[in-house]
Amino acid sequence: MIIVNEQEKVFHLNNGRISYLFYVMESGQLGHLYFGRALNPEGSYLHMVEKAHRPMTTYITEGDLYTSYEHLRQEYPCYGTSDYRYPALEIQGGDGSRICKPEYQRYEIFHGKKLLSGLPATYVEDESEASTIEIFMWDPVRSLEVILSYSIFRDVDAVARSVRFVNHGKESVFINSAMSMSVDLPDAGFQSVQLSGSWARERHIHVRDLQPGISAVSSMRGNSSHQHNPFLALKRKSTTELSGEAYGFSLVYSGNFLAQTEVDNYQVLRVMMGINPFGFQWKLDPETDFTTPEAIMVYSGDGLNGMSRQFHRLYRSRLARGYWRDRERPILINNWEATQFNYVGDDLILFAAKAKECGIELFVLDDGWFGARDDDRHGLGDWHANTQKLPNGIEGLAEKIEALGMKFGLWFEPEMVNRDSDFFRSHPDYIIATPNRSTSHGRNQFVLDFSRREVVDAIYEQMYELLSKAKISYIKWDMNRSISECYSEAYPADQQGEIFHRYILGVYDLHERLIQAFPSLLIESCSSGGGRFDAGMLYYAPQGWVSDNSDAVERLKIQYGTSLVYPISCMGAHVSACPNEQVGRRTPIETRGNVACTGAFGYELDLNRLSSEEIEIVKKQIAFYKENRRLIAEGNFYRLCSPFETNFAAWETAAPDRQRAIVTVTRILSEINGPYRRLPLCGLLAEQKYHIESRFLSYDAYGDELMQYGLMLEDKSSGQVIDGSGGCQDFLSVLYEITAI
Ligand code: DGJ
Repeated sequence: MIIVNEQEKVFHLNNGRISYLFYVMESGQLGHLYFGRALNPEGSYLHMVEKAHRPMTTYITEGDLYTSYEHLRQEYPCYGTSDYRYPALEIQGGDGSRICKPEYQRYEIFHGKKLLSGLPATYVEDESEASTIEIFMWDPVRSLEVILSYSIFRDVDAVARSVRFVNHGKESVFINSAMSMSVDLPDAGFQSVQLSGSWARERHIHVRDLQPGISAVSSMRGNSSHQHNPFLALKRKSTTELSGEAYGFSLVYSGNFLAQTEVDNYQVLRVMMGINPFGFQWKLDPETDFTTPEAIMVYSGDGLNGMSRQFHRLYRSRLARGYWRDRERPILINNWEATQFNYVGDDLILFAAKAKECGIELFVLDDGWFGARDDDRHGLGDWHANTQKLPNGIEGLAEKIEALGMKFGLWFEPEMVNRDSDFFRSHPDYIIATPNRSTSHGRNQFVLDFSRREVVDAIYEQMYELLSKAKISYIKWDMNRSISECYSEAYPADQQGEIFHRYILGVYDLHERLIQAFPSLLIESCSSGGGRFDAGMLYYAPQGWVSDNSDAVERLKIQYGTSLVYPISCMGAHVSACPNEQVGRRTPIETRGNVACTGAFGYELDLNRLSSEEIEIVKKQIAFYKENRRLIAEGNFYRLCSPFETNFAAWETAAPDRQRAIVTVTRILSEINGPYRRLPLCGLLAEQKYHIESRFLSYDAYGDELMQYGLMLEDKSSGQVIDGSGGCQDFLSVLYEITAI
């Protein structure tokens, strides 16, 4: 999959569907040639380098008025070398100079792909699944080795990149900025697509036309954030969900990031992604190394849907890992929205028993079970049971839940502490705080300094103790505030720029230790809902709580946006009570079930408070999910109708063997006398006959009809009562089962 033209020094990564090409310039720097649909592996491509005399710029060699890094497409641009665009790399020496010119030395190619020490990364199970090329660059002034790594996957249209730095010099150098990837695309005729929002409104799709200059999304909060996701797509204006070019860039990282585009004066488009240089500086001592997080670059000629399917495949099967990766996820019930902090052991047994009766498999005890935790001002850091609420401790409660025939799960917020906790009283110096400055709180809590090994150890010990004693099958790992006044007392002044990154390395380390100690533990990540819903977390936690907003209508946009990158199997989605806790909306229980079952399904309400009719519906939802959860998790997902653009949200999951599909159609507001509607499906066999079954309708049709003419939606009498209930027809959702006959 990697072709090297030794004479021209051109490197061609090619898996038969996509190509990625770069070359070594005469000066020794790397230039970018091409990223897109596969090109002929026999071809020679150096003529793609476009170069002309450009006035008012600076040139690399005296006497040469043609060669300037400013108008050559770069592969990993460095600061200060006649390229005036934003660099991927800035190194500062002890002399204060910020110039760095790593030059090409050699390359190595191998089958498979390396893991990144201490960092999440995609992996292979068999060496034939990927090929990797490492390009070794050398900066002679600083004796700095820069190793650019590229892996191309056999079965996914993606290239994984990361960069490693090794200081072979005698003096320390400072990495001020080191992107994980940078690419200079030859034209800027794209729109950028980002996933942005806020708490309870995460990952809404925003599209903007690129203009000359910079546009970026980023985080400097210490977590990847509710506000912007570490992801960026580029699409042509004419690209749709199913056709046209789309590029996707995703960072496998959970801390501060930057995803930036820059359109230069020659309409070249630089895209780069990596750790946010703001607030970052890494001191690289002699004979030490530093590795950037991994960035994944996807190319699709089949629209945004095509791009998403590549990410889904890669992230579901070669980023998520471990015991739960391919196992059917348990249907869970979580008590948070039903009880908040107010419960005692007996209430929980009644709560769980009703769930068991309905077929739910896992009971999750949320916040409030530990220390003096009666509200959010106390207890964080004291990870032992509050015996006033739970007289038999967590062990006793877990036993009782297991005796009901369910698994038991528990909430933790390992990175946080309240001032009113025994942990804080014993270790007041363990929080992130800047000396002589006040420390901001978030939800009355402070962030533990996970850049320090002893802090991570202290939390690990508490968690280990509990997890080894009680029958805990699942943990929900929450994180309810971002980092402010970032500073660690454990590090000297010239390493304070490392703290944000060291913090997230500490989080990864705690995850890794727990996974090693308890390999069958299912971890669901959470950060006030979706504040750290990123590819980095997916390596440790195969599912994440998508958003604190559990309203089915709000969830349409949130889950639709999330699906741009992240697989359905990792999206924690629950049916919650009405009126909804966050927005006060009342939605039919069918709609809540339909939306939640496109994800890692569960309930977030007290089933004892439902009517017997509702309980019957819940039982059916659970039975349906059990029957279909493998298809939902592993099928090909297609977005069919956007809630950002229409009054409908529709999506489909089709089995890889095309024998079955589930289509979810939700009409947001009721309409009066609307048009007849059909919804063209995807991923079926044209010549296969299918049976279509839904709440209101049943018919047979061939795959070609379903994909061309479309599935006939039953909303024929829009605005009128079609289910005979006489009630409000807003938020109507219908599931269609399409089965080969
Ligand atoms: C925020 C989470 O997103 C909620 O689901 C819940 O676990 C609360 N924290 C508990 O404090």
